[in-house]
Amino acid sequence: MNGLAIHDLSVRYGRRDVLRGLSAGPLPRGEITALLGPNGSGKSTLLRTLAGLAKPAAGSLTLDGAPLALTAASARSHSVVYLPQALPAGVRLQVLESVLVAARAGRDPALRERTGTAAQRDLATAHATLERLDIATLANRSLDELSGGQRQLVGIAQALVREPQVLLLDEPLSALDLNHQYQVMAVLRDVTRERGIATVVVLHDINAALRACDRAMLLHDGHIAHFGPSAEVVTPASLAQVFGVRARIEPCSRGLHQVLIDGIADRQGIASRHTR
Ligand SMILES: Nc1ncnc2c1ncn2[C@@H]1O[C@H](COP(=O)(O)OP(=O)(O)OP(=O)(O)O)[C@@H](O)[C@H]1O
Ligand SMILES: [Mg+2]
Repeated sequence: MNGLAIHDLSVRYGRRDVLRGLSAGPLPRGEITALLGPNGSGKSTLLRTLAGLAKPAAGSLTLDGAPLALTAASARSHSVVYLPQALPAGVRLQVLESVLVAARAGRDPALRERTGTAAQRDLATAHATLERLDIATLANRSLDELSGGQRQLVGIAQALVREPQVLLLDEPLSALDLNHQYQVMAVLRDVTRERGIATVVVLHDINAALRACDRAMLLHDGHIAHFGPSAEVVTPASLAQVFGVRARIEPCSRGLHQVLIDGIADRQGIASRHTR
């Protein structure tokens, strides 16, 4: 199947193994995989490794069955786009300008046209992306004058205009209000399907993962504890094991599944306390 696959990947910082022998895949094109796990479980490390920004101690990656070398340059040539958890501050560009720069950077330098048509196409794409993310009114504002959430939306726009084949987003909803969280996940779903992108999104909102992501990968203790269709792998048992919470999963009136947290589980994953 086409998509991104992880083969026996290990990553260490100094002498400490953070990820040990991870294998999964494929993470199919046209689908969103939610990367879930506790603080410090290695989600950002895995995403940075997929982006070629952290060097693994062992293992390999493939995209559509072909090796994807684990270097930033190689990842770029395969159009792997990564949005970090913390966005850079102090950038003086205007919003539209920054999105245009990203659109140009996303093109293969060998194919980069310098014609008026290419520039017009970039401009149209940039405007359409800002519109789609509900931030067209920010086009002429300076990046360093934006709120945290507005800057996060611009970061997502910059990632989308690069037209990736693999899209890696680290907590893209962390600064967004309810309305924008919903809109961003809807746009990601549409774009992922339309363009056949293999999208991986780190989330702490399990309900967003259940609602908008096709698959979920749960990291725990340096391993992939669960990987599969979201509704199958996000269960009270897996949430107790991975997050140490006592959870219920109940259908809402629209038939979607919702996670409700009742308390903290003990180390065996059995409820020990009620917090309500
Ligand atoms: N540059 C680094 N040098 C040394 N250790 C690091 C480095 N970056 C992360 N770590 C450690 O690696 C582990 C995994 O960190 P990582 O940032 O991948 O976690 P995470 O799952 O993204 O957590 P969070 O949900 O808090 O963002 C943590 O124990 C962290 O302290
Ligand atoms: Mg992180």
